[in-house]
Amino acid sequence: MKKTTVPAIRAMKGSSRIGMLTAYDYPSARVADAAGADILLVGDSLAMVVLGYPDTLSVTVDDMLHHTRAVARGTKSALIVGDMPYLSYHVSAEEAVRNAGRFIQAGANAVKVEGAKPSRLRAIEAILDAEIPVMGHIGLTPQSVNALGGFKLQGKHADDARRLIDEAAALEHAGCFSVVLECVPSELAAMITERLTIPTIGIGAGPSCDGQVLVFHDVLGIYDGHTPKFVRQYAHVAQTMQSALEAYLADVRGGQFPDEQKESFHMASDEELKRLYAAREQAEESVGVVVEMPRG
Ligand code: KIV
Repeated sequence: MKKTTVPAIRAMKGSSRIGMLTAYDYPSARVADAAGADILLVGDSLAMVVLGYPDTLSVTVDDMLHHTRAVARGTKSALIVGDMPYLSYHVSAEEAVRNAGRFIQAGANAVKVEGAKPSRLRAIEAILDAEIPVMGHIGLTPQSVNALGGFKLQGKHADDARRLIDEAAALEHAGCFSVVLECVPSELAAMITERLTIPTIGIGAGPSCDGQVLVFHDVLGIYDGHTPKFVRQYAHVAQTMQSALEAYLADVRGGQFPDEQKESFHMASDEELKRLYAAREQAEESVGVVVEMPRG
């Protein structure tokens, strides 16, 4: 299977639709890669859907690298993008480069950075200068949840929309190879997609983007927390998992698992079984002797 590259993703602008999914561990990466995902994002959303935090702010670079290594081991074809977590690129451009480099050493092919304010653009340019491709991310940027006042639609008023158009252009100008548009009006995403020469990848941004991304656990119905309007669930795997686990526990408690033949192992031969019984008898006799020994 051929490995998807950053130039190959850039070349998909306006031609074929880019299919992107998050993946957080070895089995999810294997399944998403085998399904044909173009890009696997080791998203900091793992804070919420895997680790149970209320937002994405608590995960560290070390947490993210642990998951990136597992995804890299499970991926043959998809481009792997490591999501730089909160505070890993905010302090200085130098720190941003060092942290981005650790993602590459863990097996990512590119990193994703949220936002497009001037300090962010400086960090992005420094990362690019270290030969690390960067995916931008604007609109609802979950690492800014406190500043934004919640997980809300962005750019629904013309002034805000105008700012997002400028931010998208700034990310393209800085050298990003693609940009995620999260939770913005469909009309705005269409306008940005038309203006940029790099692919836009939407999540809650309507059908006009060059690609779409969804969270693995949302697509499969594994996460039973809040599911946003823009998610389409293609399965209800949490229910399937719970029913299977209930059936297993009922079998254990009812003595139906394991089956003596199908799920158990047996002695090598009848001869070996006889020797086992003989050994048990011998052991019982010697225990008997010890018990019957006079005390004191
Ligand atoms: O962390 C994540 O899953 C993301 C996607 C929603 C784009 O950033």
